[in-house]
Amino acid sequence: MERKKITIPDLLKMKQQGIKITMLTAYDYPLASIIDAAGVDMILVGDSVGNVVLGYESTIPVTMDEMIHHTKAVRRGTKFAFLVGDMPFMSFNVSPEDTISNAGRFIKEAGADAVKLEGGGTDVIRMVKAVVGAGIPVMGHLGLTPQTATMLGGLKAQGKDEGAARKILEQALALEAAGCFSIVFECIPAKLAELISKKLKITAIGIGAGPACDGQVLVTHDMLGLYGRFVPKFVKQYVDLSGQISAGIIKYIEEVRGEQFPGVEHVFNMDEKKLKELKN
Ligand code: KIV
Repeated sequence: MERKKITIPDLLKMKQQGIKITMLTAYDYPLASIIDAAGVDMILVGDSVGNVVLGYESTIPVTMDEMIHHTKAVRRGTKFAFLVGDMPFMSFNVSPEDTISNAGRFIKEAGADAVKLEGGGTDVIRMVKAVVGAGIPVMGHLGLTPQTATMLGGLKAQGKDEGAARKILEQALALEAAGCFSIVFECIPAKLAELISKKLKITAIGIGAGPACDGQVLVTHDMLGLYGRFVPKFVKQYVDLSGQISAGIIKYIEEVRGEQFPGVEHVFNMDEKKLKELKN
């Protein structure tokens, strides 16, 4: 069957039909091309680029220009997946005008299909309404929101008691009412995620939120074993790419030092006569 580009109605249809949605992060052309060709439904250019690619301690320092640069590269490698650009810290917190203009850059300059922004408080809801009103699809992000982790008491699971769980549920419904087409739920109890996913008409995408969400997202560098500094409990590592890359590099060093590389098959030859002339 011919593959078509995924749209928001396709994602909603998948929820209605009980087909799980897959989402992964990408930050550059080669990984985006591989992820897209493998058949993932959604690609997120996450501000996790700050941790796993740029080497920052957190996502806080990531700038709009860095996000646009990475999203452009991912766009070039993405043909079919629905592409979401993650709005970095302080790009959606100043004013609705500033937020619309930053969200617009993801769509106009970088070619994203939608933007994602963290939080569900009154101010964020105002920003979501402004961006949706400007015609830009918005994905919400609730539970553990790394940009404001300090206010949440650190990078830990959220919504474990009744009051906190109710707040997440209410914020989810408010984000839906404000026009979000989907919401990411990060590090919340599986039963809470199940309850919210059932209440929402829009798609609920989980990360550390159990199996009942409408779909799952992971940071690709975590699931491929490319980022070892911190591996959260909810990550399943499918491949040990760091180990494989490291083994390849060690072999290269050995072969260069042992003069096994380059071999005859890697060498360009020249005419013996011309070489003789050169030597004379
Ligand atoms: O930045 C990111 O990669 C994210 C995911 C963890 C959902 O927001």
